[in-house]
Amino acid sequence: MTATPTARPAPSGESTARAASAPFLLDRHLTEADRTAALAADVRAGLCSVPKELPPKWFYDGAGSRLFDEITRLPEYYPTRRERTILRARAGEIAALTGAETLIELGSGTSEKTRLLLDALAARGSLCSIVPFDVDDTVLAAAGAELAREYPGVVVHGVVGDFQQHVGLLPAGGRRLIVFLGGTIGNLRAPERHHLLAALRTGAGPDDALLLGTDLVKDPCRLVAAYDDAAGVTAAFNRNVLAVINRELDGNLDAEAFHHVAIWDPDEEWIEMRLRSSLEQRARLGALDLEVTFERGEQLRTEISAKFRREGVEAELAGAGWRMAHWWPDPTGDFAVSLSLPASSLPASSLPVSSVPAASPSAAPPAG
Ligand code: AVJ
Repeated sequence: MTATPTARPAPSGESTARAASAPFLLDRHLTEADRTAALAADVRAGLCSVPKELPPKWFYDGAGSRLFDEITRLPEYYPTRRERTILRARAGEIAALTGAETLIELGSGTSEKTRLLLDALAARGSLCSIVPFDVDDTVLAAAGAELAREYPGVVVHGVVGDFQQHVGLLPAGGRRLIVFLGGTIGNLRAPERHHLLAALRTGAGPDDALLLGTDLVKDPCRLVAAYDDAAGVTAAFNRNVLAVINRELDGNLDAEAFHHVAIWDPDEEWIEMRLRSSLEQRARLGALDLEVTFERGEQLRTEISAKFRREGVEAELAGAGWRMAHWWPDPTGDFAVSLSLPASSLPASSLPVSSVPAASPSAAPPAG
């Protein structure tokens, strides 16, 4: 992966240069070539391991981001609505507590809920810049142009990157509010969560703050329904990773031969999404010069989505040098947003940013 920021105006910024909206900056820490190389490495490792596994970040190409957006509107998928309720109620308070000049959003996607925060910060007069950070540059280019149009006078500085590798390269910008919404932190395993939170803490100034959305442990039936909706949108989202692999790595996996599976693991307290091969099959990945076989019924794990309890979130934050100052669950107790500040001293276990490991097959994605 290149670590060289290559700022350049996005195409949509150029095309609207004559209009009132300011052009926006786009840093690419992940070029198309880096992305393909990382996908190739993850797919080779993941499809050759037992059991087979792929990191969820590869769901999010243009089609995958659109399918995820559709998921957020499904009746069964409650997290987005719950988080929006919380942000609507607390945005003013968050703006007053942080006085943020820069809002950085990890896994920003369409930045839909973030507008509640942006509006509150803009109303307070503190907002100077917005940094949407996402692995999918198509969604980022569109969202960046839209934000630049909606918040005239505010600098929009998009960053294409993988939040497991590039959070050490986030731009400076006065008092910063880093937001990581949607419960996306749950797509990481505990050690990866620690690395991310520690890297964010290492890069944080004393006046920065971290706003974190976490989905909470609840009735497993509701959890499973949220990840296995009646309309089959989540199934299509899950299978999309096969389309990404086929397209990017010259593969011939038969997406229709895979069945969507969502299960609750009560010990790990996470939802797992898998793709189950309904038949014995052999596929070729031309770009990897690799043949993979699936037994009939063999499952490929594509995502974990961990669910949390307050004590756990607070402990994980503390372990990475953050002091949770506020915990705001929604009225149903389904989801919570927390606001944390840098603890006065870093715990000994915090690692410097340079120690954040490269993505592994057990690693994860973006999008809120
Ligand atoms: C990316 C964390 C918001 O884990 O709930 C939605 C992704 N996967 N349905 C989640 C997802 C299946 C989602 N987040």
